[in-house]
Amino acid sequence: MERGGNGACVLQVTLYKTSAQRSCALIVSRFGNRNVLTMRYGPSIAEQNFFVPAAMTNPDFDDAIAVTRDIHWVGFYDKEANLHCNPYLLIDDANVILFDPGSIPHFPVVMRKIIDLVNPNEITHLVVSHQDPDVCGNLAVLEDVIGRPDLKIVAHTNTIRLVRHYGVRSEFYAVEKNDYKLRLTSGRELQFLFTPYLHSPGAIATYDTRTKSLFSSDIFGAISVDWKLFRSDNYLEPMRAWHEIYMPSHHILAACMKRLSRLEIDRILPQHGSVLEQHQVKQAIQFLAELPCGLDLQESTP
Ligand SMILES: [Fe+2]
Ligand SMILES: [Fe+2]
Repeated sequence: MERGGNGACVLQVTLYKTSAQRSCALIVSRFGNRNVLTMRYGPSIAEQNFFVPAAMTNPDFDDAIAVTRDIHWVGFYDKEANLHCNPYLLIDDANVILFDPGSIPHFPVVMRKIIDLVNPNEITHLVVSHQDPDVCGNLAVLEDVIGRPDLKIVAHTNTIRLVRHYGVRSEFYAVEKNDYKLRLTSGRELQFLFTPYLHSPGAIATYDTRTKSLFSSDIFGAISVDWKLFRSDNYLEPMRAWHEIYMPSHHILAACMKRLSRLEIDRILPQHGSVLEQHQVKQAIQFLAELPCGLDLQESTP
């Protein structure tokens, strides 16, 4: 492996001739946690950069993993666990947004991965999909490390009411009081979808209008002993295992899937399980739209 003067590692070089018989090199390099494809034509080098998703290479789960050019998985990979948590960091010019930052036990690893990417003081918003400890139990510690007086915690009021009990001090940004939107300094708009009872009364998902990515919270979560951040096979059964236990009913889940089927979604970034991309998105929505879960599966209880 060759290391460039700018800190990039060259992973792969492919030489070929274009249809016009020009010499061309395709170079896959790694810049920090980003994989970049560079095309070079001839010795004078006209070049163009493309982002290569981590799914196309062999990601190291001890590092942050780039899911898109500006969205990074910063979770803790626990080989022993059958439930993995997926915090994501969105880096957008003057705004850095951390989604569902995770639990206290996961905090040291999550923070190390964040520091690999940004100064924690650059984090402007913490988006909290609901109040569960695996989602945001580390909020108070995180606030201390970020140390930013204008930090905002973004959530629905039904979640904020409970999140206060983690001892947080930052100002809350209640999504329903802000038209279910957050406009970033760059103009990029995040839209929030209220998904009550999936699986909390204040649950939200976040839709990034620029990358058409859905940060889906516990919806599309999964349990499995062979977790992978990206997987091309057997991603529906682990989702079944999760939703049967943690989602309330087919009635509520199916109504949400109907809403999501009208949205243009390029990828789903769940808080558990695997990232869903391309055809997996439609397939997963159809699968959950038909899945009995929760109360549907309960015998009558005494
Ligand atoms: Fe949850
Ligand atoms: Fe969760």
